[in-house]
Amino acid sequence: MDNLITRRKFLEVSMATGATVLAGGRIFGATAATPGTATNPTFKLGGDLEVNRLGFGAMRVTGDGIWGWPPDRANAVKVLKRAVDLGVNLIDTADAYGPDTSELLIAEALHPYPKGLVIATKGGLTRPGPNQWVPDGRPERLKQCVDNSLKRLKLERIDLYQLHRIDPKVPAEDSLGALKEAQQAGKIRHIGLSEVSAEQIEQARKIVPIVSIQNRYNFDDRKWEGALEFCEKENLGFLPWAPVGGTRGLGGGGAASVAKAHNADVYRVALAWLLQRSPVILPIPGTQNLQHLEDNCAAAKLKLTPEEWKSVAA
Ligand SMILES: NC(=O)c1ccc[n+]([C@@H]2O[C@H](COP(=O)([O-])OP(=O)(O)OC[C@H]3O[C@@H](n4cnc5c(N)ncnc54)[C@H](OP(=O)(O)O)[C@@H]3O)[C@@H](O)[C@H]2O)c1
Repeated sequence: MDNLITRRKFLEVSMATGATVLAGGRIFGATAATPGTATNPTFKLGGDLEVNRLGFGAMRVTGDGIWGWPPDRANAVKVLKRAVDLGVNLIDTADAYGPDTSELLIAEALHPYPKGLVIATKGGLTRPGPNQWVPDGRPERLKQCVDNSLKRLKLERIDLYQLHRIDPKVPAEDSLGALKEAQQAGKIRHIGLSEVSAEQIEQARKIVPIVSIQNRYNFDDRKWEGALEFCEKENLGFLPWAPVGGTRGLGGGGAASVAKAHNADVYRVALAWLLQRSPVILPIPGTQNLQHLEDNCAAAKLKLTPEEWKSVAA
């Protein structure tokens, strides 16, 4: 069997990738060098926060244009609760989603939080109006953002705080310096970045430890392949946003015929493809729809053969 490896090799691999699983006496793992073969169901963010790899993105539980409250607030609360029931323990959000409403809904639905639930939020983008996103990485503002997210989320410490964008008007060391201070004050456990290249990660790491990045990535949009490979090499979490295509959708490839063969849809195949792409990938699909949530979570059980995996993005 392809994934059967020796115990010694397993220890090397799991230390390098965060891969964990001992199932039925067999040792499963995936090397970063073999795209399409990852099987680890969990990943340790920062080496100490173990999460199920299939997470949930809470940007879509807001109003139109990621603005205000969702049209059906009770349903949004149900979606968040159901995600956790289905085994999700990594929820991605940001102060900019709503703004504020995504974080407030997470607290409304899930506080007091179940043990092991990791809420990953972000700061560094302002929202002048629906569908408008403007970077603001001034350190004094970021410090306020951290404090406000702590209050909205009813947390004493944020497990993963991501700089939503590097603000071109502010030296990255100033923005990251503010997050480092918040970390030293015990307000943040780990720090992540968003929409960054390998070079930007390397620069950032000179200022503060970085445990993850969040870039747009799916089988149909592989612009950030280089950043992903850097994350694999360095064992950093890679949270692909728009994992099922976001508002642009998914085109091309052989995903439709693979989906048909598994009696599934293209969304589920897209998520299974990502999970197998790399052991450091943590997809965060978003939805307001309970049935879509159930469908997406089922992707963790869908296994593509090596030929199917290749054909999806061919
Ligand atoms: N770091 C960044 O800059 C950044 C940017 C964008 C997003 N994000 C994060 O990434 C997460 C995911 O990104 P995203 O929401 O743009 O993209 P996505 O998860 O790929 O796509 C979400 C869209 O797909 C639809 N959808 C989801 N599952 C479906 C299914 N099974 N069947 C049919 N339609 C389905 C949703 O509509 P329905 O509600 O109708 O299901 C929604 O409109 C966000 O929630 C957010 O946490 C980060």
